[in-house]
Amino acid sequence: MIVLGVETSCDETAAAVVANGALISSVIAAQLDHRAYGGVVPEVASRLHERHIVSVVERALRTSGASIDDLDGVAVTYGPGLAGALIVGLNFAKGLAQARRLPFIGVDHMEGHLWANFLAEGPHDESYPYLCLLVSGGHTHLWRVEGVGSYTLVGRSRDDAAGEAFDKGARLLGLSYPGGPAIEIAAQGGDPHSIDFPRPMKGSDHCDFSFSGLKTALFYYLRTLPEDKKEAERPNIAAAYQEAIVESLLDRIHQAVHRTGLRKICVAGGVSANARLRERLDAWAEADKLNISYPPLEYCTDNAAMIAMAGYMHLEAGERSGFELEVNPNLSLVDHAQD
Ligand code: KG4
Ligand code: ZN
Repeated sequence: MIVLGVETSCDETAAAVVANGALISSVIAAQLDHRAYGGVVPEVASRLHERHIVSVVERALRTSGASIDDLDGVAVTYGPGLAGALIVGLNFAKGLAQARRLPFIGVDHMEGHLWANFLAEGPHDESYPYLCLLVSGGHTHLWRVEGVGSYTLVGRSRDDAAGEAFDKGARLLGLSYPGGPAIEIAAQGGDPHSIDFPRPMKGSDHCDFSFSGLKTALFYYLRTLPEDKKEAERPNIAAAYQEAIVESLLDRIHQAVHRTGLRKICVAGGVSANARLRERLDAWAEADKLNISYPPLEYCTDNAAMIAMAGYMHLEAGERSGFELEVNPNLSLVDHAQD
């Protein structure tokens, strides 16, 4: 089965092809125009998706070696995300599926991230169960994954997401958007122990996260710092702030492993690209003999490969969406989770 995946939930126009459970092509057109505004401008995002969607899909098909006639299904993100951005991808996918009489499936963007660790060959029976730490710009979740559509929430952020903590911290530090990579670069050469930022929720016996206090701590720290010191101190501040996020994540996943007994961990979402997070997680996994994996870097952040893979698995299971499917900017995997 050959499935085309389409993703336009935020500021990446992306298309990918999965054939029999393996990724065979992926194209991502990042919208760099938003950088000048320090964040994603919804109207600009929709217009750029509209401008690029046809050529991105054409390139994904061309590089896959498959033609439009070979497709057996179309998968598309229908939420969560920006309404106007989602509409471009969803309507494109509907039109294609309608015109070619192809099975069509809407995919939850966050469910796509859950499967980004299995793009090489798709999951198999031994892949389950696994614990997924999903750390993106809008969500920080810990999921127990038992199979396709079988997800139990283990923990979630009670306020900001980890990616949001990076983005808001970067803004306070005068760094560019997106904040995660900017803080990671600014932290180079800085001392991660130079400032004692809080580790919210550390040691608590549940698996939930909290990041809003950390951002507030950075705000007050910066207020006490003389203006002429800010530039020179930036590497230390960025390194210490990044360390606080990383250690908070580490502590919570530690707790989740303890509570669930799961030994296999997949990390996914934009923040899983962070080198310091990977370094600390790898050291812990090695010491505790845990099996930990990450998506290749280009599939940590938004892409259509993960949407094509999630769609492929649902289509293979015989599921279909109707053409009455509408975008759902507030779609939440939590609402469809098992208790
Ligand atoms: O998964 P994603 O691309 O989009 C959402 O679904 O939200 O995640 C974007 C988030 C942003 O908050 C961005 O700052 C963060 O991922 N991010 C990183 C890194 N690359 C992206 N955070 C830390 N380190 C990185 N290298
Ligand atoms: Zn995402």
